[in-house]
Amino acid sequence: MVLIARSSFFNAQRRAFSSSAATAYKVAVLGAAGGIGQPLSLLLKLNDKVTDLALYDLRGAPGVAADVSHVPANSTVTGYLPADGGLEKALTGADVVVIPAGIPRKPGMTRDDLFNTNASIVRDLAKAVGDYAPKAFTLIISNPVNSTVPIVSEVLKSKGVYDPKRLFGVTTLDVLRASRFISQVKGTKPEDEPVTVVGGHSGVTIVPLISQSNHPDISGETLDALTNRIQFGGDEVVKAKDGAGSATLSMAQAAARFTNSLLTSLSGTPVTEPTFVDSPLFKSEGIEFFASKVTLGPSGAETIHELGAVSEYEEKLIEACKVDLKKNIAKGVAFVEQNP
Ligand code: NAI
Repeated sequence: MVLIARSSFFNAQRRAFSSSAATAYKVAVLGAAGGIGQPLSLLLKLNDKVTDLALYDLRGAPGVAADVSHVPANSTVTGYLPADGGLEKALTGADVVVIPAGIPRKPGMTRDDLFNTNASIVRDLAKAVGDYAPKAFTLIISNPVNSTVPIVSEVLKSKGVYDPKRLFGVTTLDVLRASRFISQVKGTKPEDEPVTVVGGHSGVTIVPLISQSNHPDISGETLDALTNRIQFGGDEVVKAKDGAGSATLSMAQAAARFTNSLLTSLSGTPVTEPTFVDSPLFKSEGIEFFASKVTLGPSGAETIHELGAVSEYEEKLIEACKVDLKKNIAKGVAFVEQNP
């Protein structure tokens, strides 16, 4: 305990006196001992903007924290369990909260099949965020993202602390898959292949805008196959893992990248990334959340970009997306109404 207190003290001092105080952040990971949580914690430890890493899980978090804390980077890592107010301690003072808590898919399951278990896990963690870190930027990884983000929003609203600019569904894995898969089609480097992916994060709600990529020429069966692979790429991993879960390593990389984009933006250098946010784009059609390119800044989601010109093919994908997305969002909202 003494050690933890001293570390926190030094961290507070560093924040207070360092000339680069704007780049010192406390990040809390809830679900840190899981398949995503562990590699994500490692990657966050390697991020020099993270000065205080708080790892919380129902089990195993102190072990993960002890392990990660030996990685030679100058930050404090502390593990917390539910006992002794662990969740409150992990969240207090957090600038950013990343939530990968919840069960993953098994073969044959859709993300919506996770709803019954994960909805209440996310609701309860959101309550704690509202109580102990009401100003934190909250990044939701737990599936189904299309419903868990609205759940967090409803909980924070009920506590009077909801700021739509501070809540994000992490859809970065879809973006990274799109870059990787298009690079495989074209024999190029994925880092040279930005692809905007909009909509939501499951099946047909994932809409890659290939017409806006470097390769608007991709068409016919190649376009069908590429689009399908981006929409259902997660299934490849679920099948290959054969009951042992879904994407964890690539997801950790995706979440670490999005967290870094946010921290970079909070520090004053805006970054634009697709992410699932409370969005004006289709509110008139009753769709409160939508992923599109968002410019991040010190207050969070500062500019939500329009989709821009899309092809007829993509227009159809967006129509199909909207039907499912609307239902997924309504399901999340109804869950909190019925199970506050
Ligand atoms: P996992 O089962 O390996 O780990 C989940 C962790 O959450 C476990 O350590 C568990 O103890 C913990 N947990 C459960 N309830 C908790 C609570 N109330 N408080 C704190 N911790 C709690 O699962 P994995 O593979 O890490 O996946 C986590 C979630 O991420 C799943 O819902 C999965 O579907 C989702 N996911 C999201 C992706 C995305 O692109 N947004 C991609 C891949 C997975």
